[in-house]
Amino acid sequence: MITPQTIQQITNRIDIIDVIGEFIKLKKRGANYLGLCPFHGEKSPSFTVSPAKEIYKCFGCGKSGNTITFLMEHEKYSYVEALRWLANRYNVEIEETEVSAEVKQQQLAADSLYIINNFAQKFFTEQLQTDEGKSIALSYLEERGFNDDIIKKFQLGYNPQARNSFATAALQQQFNVEVLLKTGLVTNRYDELADNYRGRIIFPIHNNTGKIIGFGARIIGKAEKAPKYINTPENEIYVKSKILYGSYFARQHIDKNDECLLVEGYTDVISLHQAGIENVVASGGTSLTVEQLRLIKKYTNNLTIIYDGDSAGIKAALRGLDMALEESLNVKLVLIPDKEDPDSYVNKVGANAFREFVAENKKDFILFQLEVMMKEAGNDVSKKNDVVNRIAETLSKINKAEDFTKQQEYIRQCSSVLRIDETGLTTLVNKYKRDRVAKEEKKLPFEQQPPLQESGEMPPDETYLETSLLQQDELQERDVLRVLLELGLKPYKEGITIAQYIFSELEEFHIESPALEKLYELYRRQYEAGLEPGAKTLLYHEDADIRNLVVSITLFPYELSSRWDEKTETVVSVNKDTSVRDAELSVNYMKLRKIKKMFDQNQQDMEHSKSFEDQMRFIEIHKHLKKIEMDLMNHLGSVIIK
Ligand code: UTP
Ligand code: MN
Repeated sequence: MITPQTIQQITNRIDIIDVIGEFIKLKKRGANYLGLCPFHGEKSPSFTVSPAKEIYKCFGCGKSGNTITFLMEHEKYSYVEALRWLANRYNVEIEETEVSAEVKQQQLAADSLYIINNFAQKFFTEQLQTDEGKSIALSYLEERGFNDDIIKKFQLGYNPQARNSFATAALQQQFNVEVLLKTGLVTNRYDELADNYRGRIIFPIHNNTGKIIGFGARIIGKAEKAPKYINTPENEIYVKSKILYGSYFARQHIDKNDECLLVEGYTDVISLHQAGIENVVASGGTSLTVEQLRLIKKYTNNLTIIYDGDSAGIKAALRGLDMALEESLNVKLVLIPDKEDPDSYVNKVGANAFREFVAENKKDFILFQLEVMMKEAGNDVSKKNDVVNRIAETLSKINKAEDFTKQQEYIRQCSSVLRIDETGLTTLVNKYKRDRVAKEEKKLPFEQQPPLQESGEMPPDETYLETSLLQQDELQERDVLRVLLELGLKPYKEGITIAQYIFSELEEFHIESPALEKLYELYRRQYEAGLEPGAKTLLYHEDADIRNLVVSITLFPYELSSRWDEKTETVVSVNKDTSVRDAELSVNYMKLRKIKKMFDQNQQDMEHSKSFEDQMRFIEIHKHLKKIEMDLMNHLGSVIIK
């Protein structure tokens, strides 16, 4: 791990204009710089960089972030890679902390797995050229139409039929037996290591950087007794949910074509590559995971799923649809006809006809799902009602601001297919959206909730009311964090900083939004450890959620604060330091908000209470709260005109 000191050194030296200027042309415009946004096509510049805030924002596509996120998005670097790039540019020597024993152990295990896999791939490739390999495996691959070049490119191989030819070769290399077992290439049989993939064709699986993380092993000929494919078991480097077969060979083509084709199988990927269609990866026929979708999203927003018409995979893929929408991917579907799959179909009709077929038969995935569900529902009214709800829920997941037009267009098309009123569907979609916001707000930090579509229950009606209240709360809470991040280190009174003032004022109050609470606690921990936390340093925190939150809080401060500035404009010139007033306003508004909520709650309790004692008690609370409220109001008034 890179030490915090090094990170501090790097972030101290970052010049956002210098870094972004390396990739796009920037022109000075007032306090900011302006250029053509590299994240979406545009002719007039709306990409704005603020050197003072060390932040960029595009007013066209909405993308925003800091120097590190820019490198991560633009250059597809990881967080650490971005830091290394910056260290190199600004001549900062990187110090790394000693890694923990556990991490070291894991790295060692991963390293040895890579070494064994690498050895195994070479072994299997050689075996393809032996007499046995040629007559059994190579001939099979050739029969299926794979040429020498593609076999080499994908490093296909063969594991001989003998009990332990690979195991013996591996033991000669003195590989650790435990690690060897982890690769899944061998098993323990009668106290002896035996090959696991005997007599099978071997498909090495590469990660994004081309390292071999595992293998798929196909039986030769028909699979009747044994499974058709055996795959590497999960281990330190083979994590199924993160694998897209072929991504190493496809990624540049996906980037260039701005489209990712997704198929089910190994052979589909290889045959399409051989046909010159190279922006293609495979999921292995299981439902898509968020990790896989994010991998795709690094390169493109356009995902085209190409499955055979009666594949079980379609159902699996449909299950991943809502996730794809949340990731703002545009998903299209192409079904290959006549019991063919992409591999057999491209071999049958050729590359050009295949491309044409895909272009002409792309269906919108949402409309496709709607069609399937409508067919299943038939004339059953209650089933049709379910369909309306399901589709509304799906559409509610198109959630990002920039996708608004897309959502409207879907609502129009779906309501026409469903033959229902467009405004009705809009209302329903919005309801699902609100429900989810309410649910997420209620989530405790780190608590895992089942995804909404699985629980299937409808939240009770009160949630609407609560939603609006909670959202209000969040705005107040955000503003307190803005004050902390921007002004926390400034003096409040002699000997007290604004941060300390806020900590003590809010001791009795709880920050309800889990994300904001996490940031608040992080700030407090760093402050108490004697560090000097603030927007500038937390902007480069290793946790992406924290970084994004800091960007959004400092970029889009709660609008109330700008209104305060209007209200108090005349005062500003008289009172030189506005920080204290800003802090007091923010804290008091948040308290007022919380008090008002308690007040409402008490009011409700009072109305529902049955006994006289209870009512008296509520009236007491009412008086008490009223008094606090009045005090706060008075205080706010005096702050504003101070
Ligand atoms: P398919 O059964 O469609 O095989 O499984 P395929 O890809 O067309 O392979 P060929 O053309 O018959 O050689 C699709 C994918 O599902 C996974 C594999 O990733 C396969 O490529 N699969 C299938 C398994 O992991 N195990 C199996 O037993 C079958
Ligand atoms: Mn096939």
